[in-house]
Amino acid sequence: MDLKQYVTTVEDWPKPGISFKDITTIMDNGEAYKYATDQIVEYAKKVNADIIVGPEARGFIIGCPVSYALGVGFAPVRKEGKLPREVIRAEYGLEYGKDVLTMHKDAVKPGQKVLIVDDLLATGGTIEATIKLVEELGGVVVGCAFLIELTYLDGRNKLGNYDICTLMQY
Ligand code: PRP
Repeated sequence: MDLKQYVTTVEDWPKPGISFKDITTIMDNGEAYKYATDQIVEYAKKVNADIIVGPEARGFIIGCPVSYALGVGFAPVRKEGKLPREVIRAEYGLEYGKDVLTMHKDAVKPGQKVLIVDDLLATGGTIEATIKLVEELGGVVVGCAFLIELTYLDGRNKLGNYDICTLMQY
């Protein structure tokens, strides 16, 4: 299946000059959503993941069905102030200023093989912070999977030697 035909490009959103990749038109198509999920499930089996970690909000949409299909857990990465128990935090740079991602302290157990899943690899800032959190908890990042990679932003370089799987490249 050519997944790209289900991605909607929205020009000048959320601001002028940005060409936004809208994946809701994958999600609302049962066949496309299942196909995309199945591809990541196959990758998760290959890297032998035993838990899925995904950053809010779109990482939940892509990661949770993978978790369900494999019968493994899902641990959420959330922006500050959203998780109710003790958290660890990692700052990451935005275009202007910075933001903070958090995880519950017990979300990943030491030695667990973690697959990180998100919709989009752009600058790589979100995933870099997510990797930091997982490793601080003692998790072993066995791979990072994305629906879309914006290759011109070079996020892959930021991730060094981590194994990366992307289903579509722009
Ligand atoms: C988007 C996207 C990725 C991230 C990619 O999320 O869903 O998580 O940006 O960008 P990066 O590689 O440059 O870090 P966003 O921060 O907009 O959060 P949202 O999914 O909650 O809207």
